[in-house]
Amino acid sequence: MPIVETKNQTPQRQGLCLDEAGLAAARQDLDDGAVTPAYGPWRDDVVRLLNDALATELVCVMRYRRHYFTADGVESPKIAEEFLVHANAELAHAVRIAERIVQLGGEPNFDPTTLLQRSHADYDESRELQAMIRANLVAERVAVETYRQMIDLVGDKDSTTRRMLEDILADEEEHADELKDWLAR
Ligand SMILES: [Fe+2]
Ligand SMILES: [Fe+2]
Repeated sequence: MPIVETKNQTPQRQGLCLDEAGLAAARQDLDDGAVTPAYGPWRDDVVRLLNDALATELVCVMRYRRHYFTADGVESPKIAEEFLVHANAELAHAVRIAERIVQLGGEPNFDPTTLLQRSHADYDESRELQAMIRANLVAERVAVETYRQMIDLVGDKDSTTRRMLEDILADEEEHADELKDWLAR
């Protein structure tokens, strides 16, 4: 409905205006880099969630690499090669997450002594190919659920982090879908 303006009545709508005080605040606190005051009070929470996701990705890198080396030459070298492809994809996710943590002024946690406790997904030492595929499918489904929940939590609080999480989620869904097909073979 268009807003009708009459002589004695001014329109109620203000229009789309930037917050000038926010722009002024952005000129201060230069040490915060990309994070301006409008970011809100979520920075520590987002960094914590991202650090748990980083730990998960790093454990996934190690689990897939271990599977790549130990499944090599078993029934299906083709699937072993795919484990390596996934391992490299998880490493790329870890790199993106660590970069975002730094942009948010946080510290990416690579501490190996607490990695497994902080990871949502498990490491796996299966020796048999089907068990490896199953362990990876479980891990990917946990990752899918984790990223879905994180996207919900971040919402419109941080659109850059949200877009990154959405990209990673799409990759994890693809991984889970592939593993499901290999399990059915
Ligand atoms: Fe990943
Ligand atoms: Fe994955």
